[in-house]
Amino acid sequence: MTAFPDGFRWGTATAAHQVEGGNTNNDWWRWEHAASGTVAEPSGDACDSWDRWAEDVALVAGLGFDHYRFSLEWSRIEPAPGEWSLAALDHYRRICAALRERDVEPVVTFHHFTSPAWLADMGSWEKGEAVDRFADFCHRAAAAIGPLAARACTINEPNVVSTAGYVLGVFPPGVTDPGRAEAVTENLVAAHRRAVDAIRAAAPDLPVGMTLSMTDYQPLDGGEERTAHIREVHEDVFLRATAGDDFLGVQTYTRMLIGPDGWAGPQPGVPVLPMGYELWPDALEACLRRAWQVTGGSLPLWVTENGIGTDDDGQRIDFVAAALRGVLRALADGVAVEGYTYWSLLDNFEWAFGYRPRFGLVSVDRESFARRPKPSARWLSEVARSNRLP
Ligand code: GCO
Repeated sequence: MTAFPDGFRWGTATAAHQVEGGNTNNDWWRWEHAASGTVAEPSGDACDSWDRWAEDVALVAGLGFDHYRFSLEWSRIEPAPGEWSLAALDHYRRICAALRERDVEPVVTFHHFTSPAWLADMGSWEKGEAVDRFADFCHRAAAAIGPLAARACTINEPNVVSTAGYVLGVFPPGVTDPGRAEAVTENLVAAHRRAVDAIRAAAPDLPVGMTLSMTDYQPLDGGEERTAHIREVHEDVFLRATAGDDFLGVQTYTRMLIGPDGWAGPQPGVPVLPMGYELWPDALEACLRRAWQVTGGSLPLWVTENGIGTDDDGQRIDFVAAALRGVLRALADGVAVEGYTYWSLLDNFEWAFGYRPRFGLVSVDRESFARRPKPSARWLSEVARSNRLP
């Protein structure tokens, strides 16, 4: 079987801080310039999408995708607590309207890793206050863009926010204390629930859900207990928080072999990507099946991110084709997957890794910001148009 069900949705994604440039008022900008030096390079101008967003819209539409997932930069919309930038809200409204004009559905993420600098000063996600602040922001933003948006994603990968920021210390605030991560997880779960309510209150017709990072954790001998623990704290606690949502976004990049002490690292013989993990396209199918099983099939799934950071664009095509074959197998077994969103439209700022990993369907010249679609863009465009794998 190579055909996707009628009405299957195809798109691609970006996130504000990774493409806009000049987001000087958030916790990531600070982190990029902190003395600790854990970020390869600052985000700087990124892809200058704050100015060049119309080019991005034209690219997505020209490639024939039916949706574009992008995020709102909270620090631009609420530059100081309770101070709202109507101009920034208008900016995002214009993006939504331009997409609609080209028959592309706006899929809007309300929080994609970055928080306003003032929220960081207040203790960020460790404080219950962040939950209230985020709910206010969601209500305000949903009222502005709700009528134009097609789908709302509350918090992008809350599990990565807590693990990378509070256990591994590679995201702000750079904490390495699992005890503190627990409080953050609790607040992120609460923030998701409050965000769903706030968005529904402001935009009752807008479907809303969480986008979760999922990894195909595979236990090695003796790693069963550890795997169960990782799944619980990294995935299941968040999956349980999706009850009552309109959809669940699954975001998968790789698998991890888990031994008694945790991740055993890449298996010899399996290619390793610049991100340090295995090239393992079948992970997507495994995670979709697991998401479906843990949530009891109670809400439709969307692949809101899947992709590969590589300089070899042929490898990208092979990876996506293999991942999509897995989606077809899951669909054949009754897992309700409604769409596939490739990460990312553009080569962009890959957080701690800087600009080195290239996830884009479209390259971006780091000096002229010129966008150039790669062969993979045309390949995925053809898959989307024909709604089948070649
Ligand atoms: C994430 C984010 C994206 C990344 C992508 C590639 O999953 O970390 O949603 O911002 O760029 O995943 O690593």
